[in-house]
Amino acid sequence: MAADTLFRRITDYANRANPYPLYAELREQGVARQEDGSYLVGTYHDIAALLHDPRISSDRRNRTVPDGIATEAPGMPVAFIGLDDPEHERLRNIAMWSFGPPHAATRIDAMHGEITAIAEELIDALRGRDRIDVVDDFAYPLPVTVICRLLGVPREDEPRFRAWSEALIAGVDPTPDSDPAERQRAAVAARIAMGHYLGEVADNRRGKPCDGMLSAFVNDPGPDGSFTRPELMSTAVLLLIAGHETTVNLITNGMLTLLRHPEALELLRREPELMPRAVEELLRYEPPVQLLPQRTALTDVEVAGVTVPKGAPLILVLASGSRDPKRFHDPDRFDPTRRDNQHFGFGSGVHSCFGAPLARIEAQIALTELTRRLQAPRLVQDPPPYRRSPILRGPRHLPLEIAGIKA
Ligand code: HEM
Repeated sequence: MAADTLFRRITDYANRANPYPLYAELREQGVARQEDGSYLVGTYHDIAALLHDPRISSDRRNRTVPDGIATEAPGMPVAFIGLDDPEHERLRNIAMWSFGPPHAATRIDAMHGEITAIAEELIDALRGRDRIDVVDDFAYPLPVTVICRLLGVPREDEPRFRAWSEALIAGVDPTPDSDPAERQRAAVAARIAMGHYLGEVADNRRGKPCDGMLSAFVNDPGPDGSFTRPELMSTAVLLLIAGHETTVNLITNGMLTLLRHPEALELLRREPELMPRAVEELLRYEPPVQLLPQRTALTDVEVAGVTVPKGAPLILVLASGSRDPKRFHDPDRFDPTRRDNQHFGFGSGVHSCFGAPLARIEAQIALTELTRRLQAPRLVQDPPPYRRSPILRGPRHLPLEIAGIKA
């Protein structure tokens, strides 16, 4: 089949359950120019080079042909994931001051006990059931609760985030459809509503320091200064969305993969100390972020012998790079004990995932609790129904039959 239809086939919902053969085709083609003038890249070494190349921008506004995806909303500037240095670095540093080392070195580790308690509570609530949905009953509520606690969002408001965040994710979905304008409109409205809500929570904390990053943003500025009110709104929305729409897929893809590999499930039940390595393998083998659609060439750039012209969109298929046989031994094999595993699950370079330490411990705790406590779990449907997005890929539901819940 012709190269210019590859991206259509990758985004085609019919291929959502198993896009990996398409990625193998992509790697064979090197760089694949699509009919709309964008370029798909799928080999490990090309992706790594582009992620570290300052001639490659994360700011969509550098595109010569706009892609119709709304990055700005009235009163809310582009968040730092969509900006280049030095502006990206300044905003990322301000956010990091309240999230990790050196200033907030213990914030994430200190959440270990709380995350375990949330996971246990969710599993306790399944007692008496013989059928569960891993997504609705566990993998979705866990990260939403965790990110709301991390930011310091009042608990009673947590349910509001599901509808907002679903609208936002639909807005960045590049799958061609009948009414993209309507999806964009709904995404912008959700972004504004969420931004105002989070901005108000932060305002209420001003001068009254308490737990959570929103309070820290307004009460504890670091060496890079503080956010303006609009910057705070955009950053808080970014953290909230990035913080759970990805983790839900890591947990669900993880459980699905373990159920498809019963020997791995058994091994992890016997030796839960292997879980950190198994989570790294899941990030390589079934990554929640399959591709990065927002890079743009700032000048003509040569990639694998092809000149990508200035202003052209570059789509980096991370999930393909992480299955490249030129980089990983036996890449289509799930090996929870794999050692040499420098995957692209969290990206690479200056934009590499800000929340990786949190995502890692959430997934480790979640999968340890699920493998330990679900008795005789069995997949009801394989493949399960998938969510629409080809970027943030994972099952919409994962129905399981279980024989009970262990204490
Ligand atoms: C399994 C869970 C997660 C996965 C697979 C994931 C994956 C990624 C990837 C691939 C990127 C790179 C984007 C790019 O280069 O354009 C990224 C960036 C980012 N992630 Fe995550 N992420 C996860 C969880 C989280 C969590 C829990 C948070 C917040 C607490 C978070 C916050 C961010 C932010 C703010 C960025 C932008 C970084 C920058 O532009 O400098 N992520 N993530």
